[in-house]
Amino acid sequence: MKIVIAGGTGFLGRRLVRRLVAERATVCVAVRHPEQAQNALRAAGLDGVTVFRADVRDQASVTAAVAGADAVVNAVSAYVEKSGVTFEAVHEHGAETVAREAVAAGVARLILVSGIGADPGSGSPYIRARGRGELVVRQAFPGEVSYWRFPWAPGHHFDIVAALLLGLFLGGFGGFLSAIQEWDRRETKFNETLDELTPKAVLPS
Ligand SMILES: NC(=O)c1ccc[n+]([C@@H]2O[C@H](COP(=O)([O-])OP(=O)(O)OC[C@H]3O[C@@H](n4cnc5c(N)ncnc54)[C@H](OP(=O)(O)O)[C@@H]3O)[C@@H](O)[C@H]2O)c1
Repeated sequence: MKIVIAGGTGFLGRRLVRRLVAERATVCVAVRHPEQAQNALRAAGLDGVTVFRADVRDQASVTAAVAGADAVVNAVSAYVEKSGVTFEAVHEHGAETVAREAVAAGVARLILVSGIGADPGSGSPYIRARGRGELVVRQAFPGEVSYWRFPWAPGHHFDIVAALLLGLFLGGFGGFLSAIQEWDRRETKFNETLDELTPKAVLPS
């Protein structure tokens, strides 16, 4: 059972990698920075995970990454647009490229990690790209496809520091403690949701 996780070093991706390795799946991650991925995986004791250099904006790299996979998870994210990275390129066209290349490779199951409120008609470029991403994947992938829309959890250092400072600013030490509890609660919920979805969507029944 070979599973390719595009974005497998991210907040969500690395949790999923750990979960699937524990299920004895053959796991590959596809990211733009394979050296960083390799180091992070080694540090986490996950040396058996294969790393591909792939960018969802580059079709050939995606073709190589998904070859031979039973399931593909697209957990790539772009939260800000900068230097050639646009929401449209990653969340719409990139999602379509992953879906098309998965079809060409005969992949049975595809999981698109999308965003809450994804809406192809939204005025927000981010929400619109997420909505259009879901649409193009639905059109491109005829097999079993799941769309995951997770509640937000503070996964990045910046988010965590911002949440704690905001709590401190608004509520003093009590607000700071509340922010920690809220952060913990959200992360727990995030992990529970991932645990619940993973067997059904990624692993064969
Ligand atoms: N974190 C949350 O609270 C949360 C909540 C709801 C939904 N989500 C969704 O979960 C998904 C993953 O989010 P995350 O927070 O885990 O993201 P993240 O921590 O920012 O990680 C992003 C991952 O995508 C890879 N990546 C970025 N651009 C890429 C590209 N063009 N081609 C290939 N790989 C690329 C990154 O590795 P490289 O930089 O090496 O390429 C990294 O592995 C997103 O769809 C996000 O909307 C997250």
